[in-house]
Amino acid sequence: MSDQAQNLRNIVQNTTATPKIGDENPKVRSIAVVSGKGGVGKSNITIFLAKSLATRGKKVLIFDGDLGLANLHILLGILPKGTLTQYMKNECRVENIIHKIQENVDLIPGGSGEILPSSDLSKLLADLINVSRNYDYLIIDGGAGIAENTIRLSICAGEILLIMTPDPTSLADAYATIKVLSSRGQKNISLLINMAQSPQEAENVKNKLFALCQNFIKFTPNFIGFLPQSEKLASLIREDIGVLSKKLGNFSLKINTLAAKIDGENIAENGRTTQNFFLKFAQTIGGKL
Ligand SMILES: Nc1ncnc2c1ncn2[C@@H]1O[C@H](COP(=O)(O)OP(=O)(O)O)[C@@H](O)[C@H]1O
Ligand SMILES: [Mg+2]
Repeated sequence: MSDQAQNLRNIVQNTTATPKIGDENPKVRSIAVVSGKGGVGKSNITIFLAKSLATRGKKVLIFDGDLGLANLHILLGILPKGTLTQYMKNECRVENIIHKIQENVDLIPGGSGEILPSSDLSKLLADLINVSRNYDYLIIDGGAGIAENTIRLSICAGEILLIMTPDPTSLADAYATIKVLSSRGQKNISLLINMAQSPQEAENVKNKLFALCQNFIKFTPNFIGFLPQSEKLASLIREDIGVLSKKLGNFSLKINTLAAKIDGENIAENGRTTQNFFLKFAQTIGGKL
């Protein structure tokens, strides 16, 4: 274990956030898609957002950070050539865990139902620091709730896209997530309301949440918009975004607006870090394994 911590410290010392010669894109934007409650649409939004950013010419790497319940590859119908677990056991190379979904969108699937061995996390992080430099965006499907692992991922990301639905239990859980993240120093939080029946419903939910935040923690996230309820969504997730635009109507319009907002500006206003997500993750866990 102490060897592991030393390895991580070595990575952190040897990997700087300063651009090196040959580094074409050292400033990959990392966005963690998180929620208080599960089943609110994180995985779907991660995929649709990545596809929409790709149509804007951006290179996107999706990382399935929902380590306990990783399922992005299942949603996408991908049979991984190599899993994170195999990689950790030296049974495959880092290239084998990166799967092309479409032009400009790649996925690193998680290990479904598997607990990752922490034995060689430092090797994985060193490889991922290098790999992620080839992308404009790293979108992390970050899991639900306020378990320590989820919080760590969220703190290491430059930006948070917090998903909630109009469901009353989602409100309390979203508030709890904002409270914990902001108290741990992550204030680059943008709120997206999913499965809204109408713009008015989304506005009401947002106002309720913001009133809670204002009263009790004196901090409100950035409201980035809402996505409508769409019955066709589940059956279309594997389609190309061009097909989606025709079949998903209002939903894809809204996803494209969201991608344009994110791509055009910082999604939150509190000064995001441009530090590499995996490097920050290595630093965060450096001495704590
Ligand atoms: N805007 C939406 N309209 C209709 N169904 C949705 C919408 N967003 C997500 N869903 C459905 O909700 C369920 C949960 O979505 P998922 O992305 O797996 O959530 P999470 O990753 O937060 O657990 C899925 O069945 C998905 O098809
Ligand atoms: Mg999910």
